[in-house]
Amino acid sequence: MVHLPRRRGWEIPDSSATPEAAFVDRRDFLKLVGLAGAGLAVGAGLTRAARALAAAAPAVAAPGAARSIYPARRNPAFVLDRPLTGEQVAATYNNFYEFTEQKDAVARLVGKFEPRPWRIEIAGMVETPRQVDVGYLIRSLPVEERLYRHRCVEAWAMAVPWTGIPMREFVKWAKPTSSARFVRMVSFLRPDEAPNQKTATWYPWPYYEGLRLEEAMNDLTLLAVGIYGHDLPKQHGAPIRLVTPWKYGFKSIKSIVRFEFTDRQPKTFWNDVAAKEYDFLANVNPKVPHPRWSQATERMIGSDERRPTLPYNGYGQWAAGLYDKG
Ligand code: MTE
Repeated sequence: MVHLPRRRGWEIPDSSATPEAAFVDRRDFLKLVGLAGAGLAVGAGLTRAARALAAAAPAVAAPGAARSIYPARRNPAFVLDRPLTGEQVAATYNNFYEFTEQKDAVARLVGKFEPRPWRIEIAGMVETPRQVDVGYLIRSLPVEERLYRHRCVEAWAMAVPWTGIPMREFVKWAKPTSSARFVRMVSFLRPDEAPNQKTATWYPWPYYEGLRLEEAMNDLTLLAVGIYGHDLPKQHGAPIRLVTPWKYGFKSIKSIVRFEFTDRQPKTFWNDVAAKEYDFLANVNPKVPHPRWSQATERMIGSDERRPTLPYNGYGQWAAGLYDKG
């Protein structure tokens, strides 16, 4: 996997950004005061002069100096039981119905889609409804890399390195009120950029999904902004998409423009299209066949290897407890 640091071209203007002080991490700070590699703990062994420099750090690091989030620290809690799927394989076999229903054609049809700049609305039962640019979230909230398996309801699977914001951190930042019990997420509606939104009028565009609040706060739940050590390409749901690895892939809504906190279970796109085939929870379960095919095994894209499907896609240690009460 290549981890080339890259500056994003869609950083928000400094006027709307969190003060730079929040973005100067410990490593940058040590470089700044010339102590990188000296093994000194910030605040412990620093001289008065170094502390004075530290105070000056935000100004030194200001405009345009936002650091790249890549390579992001990999969270060691999540390990794979199989090789990573090739980047090209994952990037050319996609479900993104806004563009086409042909998995191998999505990558070719996303050309007009413009995922930056990207406004995100935080609405509903929150202390303060607001709109922010996705760059603001990426720069203000913690970001890490996780190696996850992804299981589509269609029985294909992949294993990929996502980079993203733990959704719990996002929810804490969004400050839902005590009455909120669910979060509803909505994708973009841009028929001029997404051809299938124009032609496939029988779908209830834009794509929408939802989670219980405790699912959104679970350790596994990630708002991915990158994959394979760089920003998400358009076909994977740039610039920000959900990743819930214990659920079938259709829950992982791409290119989110709105998060709405609510006290009612939200409707979901696929449940509205075919209620008998796609339920709200959509937890991976080898014992419950899809009405039209078995879920007992899965096919790894790229190798075509068949593997037994695992309950909760193998993430039961984190996710099963969410459903103790049903
Ligand atoms: N999100 C939107 N907005 N539109 C979609 O069609 N497809 C879902 C999910 N998120 C979809 C979506 C399905 S069915 C799957 S399996 C995953 O995205 C596929 O993600 P990938 O193409 O990055 O592998």
